[in-house]
Amino acid sequence: MNLFSRAAITAAMLAATLTVSAVNDGLEVLPLGATNTMVRITDPSKFLILPIEESMPDSKIDVLVNGNIAATFYARLANNSVDYTVPFDLTPYTSKGSVLLNIMTETDRASSREAGDFICWDEMKLADNFDTTNTEKYRPAYHHTPLYGWMNDPNGMFYKDGLWHLYFQYNPYGSKWQNMTWGHSTSPDLVHWTQQPNAIEPNGLGSVFSGSSVVDHNNTAGFGKDAVIAIYTSAGASQVQSLAHSSDNGETFTIYPGNPIITTTREARDPNMFWNEETGKWNLVLASALDHEDLIFSSDNLKEWTLESRFGQGYGAQDGVWECPDLIKLTVRDAKKNQPKEKWVLIVNINPGGPFGGSATQYFVGDFDGHKFTCDTPADVTRWLDFGKDHYATVSWSNAPEGRNAVIAWMSNWEYANEVPTKQFRSANSLPRDLDLFHGPDGGLYVGVTPAKETESLRGDKKSYESTTVGENEVTFKLPKENDGVCEIDLGYNLKGADKLEITLSNEKGEKVEMTYNTADRTFSMNRNESGLVNFSRHFPATTVAPMLTEKNDGTLRLFIDRCSIEAFDGEGRFAMTNLVFPTTPYTTMTVKAEGGKAKVTGLDIYSIK
Ligand code: FRU
Repeated sequence: MNLFSRAAITAAMLAATLTVSAVNDGLEVLPLGATNTMVRITDPSKFLILPIEESMPDSKIDVLVNGNIAATFYARLANNSVDYTVPFDLTPYTSKGSVLLNIMTETDRASSREAGDFICWDEMKLADNFDTTNTEKYRPAYHHTPLYGWMNDPNGMFYKDGLWHLYFQYNPYGSKWQNMTWGHSTSPDLVHWTQQPNAIEPNGLGSVFSGSSVVDHNNTAGFGKDAVIAIYTSAGASQVQSLAHSSDNGETFTIYPGNPIITTTREARDPNMFWNEETGKWNLVLASALDHEDLIFSSDNLKEWTLESRFGQGYGAQDGVWECPDLIKLTVRDAKKNQPKEKWVLIVNINPGGPFGGSATQYFVGDFDGHKFTCDTPADVTRWLDFGKDHYATVSWSNAPEGRNAVIAWMSNWEYANEVPTKQFRSANSLPRDLDLFHGPDGGLYVGVTPAKETESLRGDKKSYESTTVGENEVTFKLPKENDGVCEIDLGYNLKGADKLEITLSNEKGEKVEMTYNTADRTFSMNRNESGLVNFSRHFPATTVAPMLTEKNDGTLRLFIDRCSIEAFDGEGRFAMTNLVFPTTPYTTMTVKAEGGKAKVTGLDIYSIK
C-alpha cells in the first residue's frame, strides 16, 4: 500500500465517522445513516413542530432527558412532502435537563435513500405557539372534535360541579390511530366544548386505551372524598387494567403505583365501573374481546376487584370483538302498573359485525343483582342502539345530574375511520343523547334515544312551514345558507295513504342523501351512495335501515346536519341513525315526495345553527 492510498483510506474512514449536522434555529439535526437520526434541542421553545406525511410509516421517537428515555412516541414524519404539522410539547422535558430525540425512521430501501434526506429535518421547527385555527371544510360546526389529531372512543366521562368531562382516545401526533392517550375536553352544557391538556399519557405498562371514571363521593379508594378515579386499559405487550386518580376534578391524574389492578389471561379491555346503590358496592364490566363476552366484577375500594360472573357467549351479534361495555339502569317510560319501572341495559360495542358492516353498538335488556346479568331476550335476538354506520364505542356519563343517562358515541367506523377525507383532525363525536326504555309494537323493551335537550340551545333562525300534502310531485324547501348550511330539521309527517315518503337532501352538484319511510315494512332508511366523496373506501357507500318500532303513521323526523354528518332521530326516540357524509359543497335543498298515494308533511321547522 503506498502512502497516497493510505491517506485516501484514512480520509474515507474519517468521513464515515463524522456526521454532518444541520442547525435549524434551536435545533441540531444529526443524521446517522439509513434509519436513525438524532435531534438535539439546543435552545428550547415550548413546542417542537413535527411535519407529518400520512402515507409514511411511523417513526419511533425516544425523548431522552440527560440521556435517559423519558417518553416514547410515534409519528409519520414527512419524507417527501408535508401534509400538516403537529406540536410536541417540550416543556415537561426541557424543564428537567437537556433534551435529545433519538429517531428511528423507516426508509424506502428501493430508492436507497437515507433517513437524513427526509424533508422533515428541514421543516421541523421550534415555536411558542401552535395555530389550531380550523381551515378544513369538513370540520363539524357543532360536534365535538379534537383541535387537531386523531380521536376514537369517548372515555371516562363524568359530570361534576357543573362541568361535563369528556375524555377520548387521542393521538396528539397525527390524524391516524396511534399513541393512545386520554385527551380531555370539558363543557358546561354538552354542546360547547373546550379542549384541555391531555389527561393520561402512555407509560411503561403501555398506551392508554378506553376506560371509565367515577367520582368517589365516600372516599372508598382512599384518595380523598370526591376524588375522580379512572380505570383504563394499559395496552402494552398485554392488555391489563390500570387505575389513576385525580384531586383536581379530572384535570391531572396520578398513576396508581399498584397497577395493574386487574389482569386476565385472555385479551380484555375497556373497564367500565359504576356505584351500585342496590348492593352498596362498585361494579365493573370488562370486555373479554375475543371471547365475545363481558366479565362482571365487584369491589369495595375500586382497587381490588372480584370476578362475579360473565355474560355474553352466544348472545346477540358475535361476529367481531366485543369492546367498550357499559351497564346502566334505565327508566321504562311507558311502564304499566304491573310492569317494572326500571331495567338494566348492557351496552356492548362490537367490531366488525355491525348491521351494515364494521362497528356498531348493540344492547341487551335484563336484570342485574350486583353479581350476574340476566338477559330478557333469547340469545339469538340482537338489538342495535343506532342504525347508521357511524356510531361506535357508545358509553355513558357517570354522576350525571337529574338521574340522566346521557351517552355519546364516536361518529366513525373502523372500516374507514383512518381514511375519511379530513387531515388536521380525524373524527368527531355524535351529539350527546339521553337514553330510556319503551315498549315496541311486539311488546318487547327497546332503548329510546333522544338528542340531549341542550342541543336546542344551538338553534338560530327558524323557518316554519304549514302542513302540505305531498304526492309524486316533489315539494322543495331551501336549507339555510349560513354556516355552510348546518341545521336542524324537524319534519312532522303522516304516512297514511302512501307506500313511501321520500326526503332528499341535495346540492347543485347533484350530490344527495335519500331518506325513505316505507309504510309496508315499517322502516326508515338513508342512502348515502351519491352523497359526495364516497370512494375513499369501498365500505363507505351504503344504505342503512332502521325499524320504525311503531304502528302509528304520524310522527316527527329530526335531522341534525353538520358539515360531514347526518343524525336522524325519530321524534319519540324510537330509532336513531348516524351517518357521515362528505358533500363537496353543502346540501342546499330538501325535497319531499310520496309514492303509491299521498302523504302529509304536517309541519316543518328548519333551524339554522348558531
Ligand atoms: C374501540 C377500541 C377499544 C380500545 C380502543 C383503542 O374502538 O378498540 O377496545 O380500548 O379502541 O384505541
